[in-house]
Amino acid sequence: DWNSGNVIAEQVAKIRAQVGSGKVICGLSGGVDSAVAAALVHKAIGDQLVCVFVDHGLLREDERRQVEEDYVKATGIRLVTVDVREQFLTALEGVSDPETKRKIIGREFIRTFEQAQAELIEEAKEIDGDPIRFLVQGTLYPDVVESGGGSGTANIKSHHNVGGLPDDLKFELVEPLRTLFKDEVRAIGAELGLPAEIVQRQPFPGPGLGIRIVGSINQERLDLLRKADAIVRYELTAAGLDREIWQCPVVLLADVRSVGVQGDGRTYGHPIVLRPVSSEDAMTADWTRLPYDLLAKISNRITNEVDGVNRVVLDVTSKPPGTIEWE
Ligand code: XMP
Repeated sequence: DWNSGNVIAEQVAKIRAQVGSGKVICGLSGGVDSAVAAALVHKAIGDQLVCVFVDHGLLREDERRQVEEDYVKATGIRLVTVDVREQFLTALEGVSDPETKRKIIGREFIRTFEQAQAELIEEAKEIDGDPIRFLVQGTLYPDVVESGGGSGTANIKSHHNVGGLPDDLKFELVEPLRTLFKDEVRAIGAELGLPAEIVQRQPFPGPGLGIRIVGSINQERLDLLRKADAIVRYELTAAGLDREIWQCPVVLLADVRSVGVQGDGRTYGHPIVLRPVSSEDAMTADWTRLPYDLLAKISNRITNEVDGVNRVVLDVTSKPPGTIEWE
């Protein structure tokens, strides 16, 4: 019989056996997999583990605080945050092609992670001469199966989870979630006392808000989208729909403007697209039939509270033919 307590005890023993007194590094994404993997490793070996969180500026509202405060408080993990928001904005300036965005984000992310890791290794040497030998990854069982099976959909979009790391990193991998499914990972996270916002978090793409701005990315557009996204998330949660909805991308059509009227004046603003979907595994999806009153509330709030947006539209396309994300 599956029992999260047993799995935790088993994994803790395994991690200790693998790592011994070695030093371990883990990149946190803000998502459930890396959060639970790191918490398991921390339970096993304590401060031999250091976590790195990259703030690339494409995060959702409150995401950094959740990791830096709530997660650290719940686990006691040593965390280093690297703030590279400027670097990412510069690298992405003027880029609107989705795949190019993904490549740039992936490349900058790896560069940042490598730098942070190099600094930590320097630091570790100064302390006790022991380099970091192990890297934690939150690989799940379905990821193992999928990469072994050569998934055909990989060519549609390069789904490099931003945690994906290049081959020349000379680490031994620690993968305590390799035999587990997502709901099991959530159960373990809850058992370990991790914050509910992280444990129950819906899927969110590694490239973050960067692939939810159709058009090029800049600070103003990111701020606008972050605000709209926070309103949608708040209202869906308040309506008790977090479990019914697989995820709800909120998309800014940055290159589209339409005429509106607000107060006494004519506006020429951007549309925000709501893309609520129901799904089992993200391979196929249907659009979620949200209550009209809820849609009205979300639409009113966004157009009232988010400057530059004068229209909210609903995506009523299933997958296929539409993908879940717009880019
Ligand atoms: P699509 O848009 O292909 O999305 O229907 C399927 C699932 O994958 C997520 N997604 C990504 N995740 N990096 C990620 O880590 C990406 O580049 C990426 N693109 C899509 C999407 O949110 C959905 O859950």
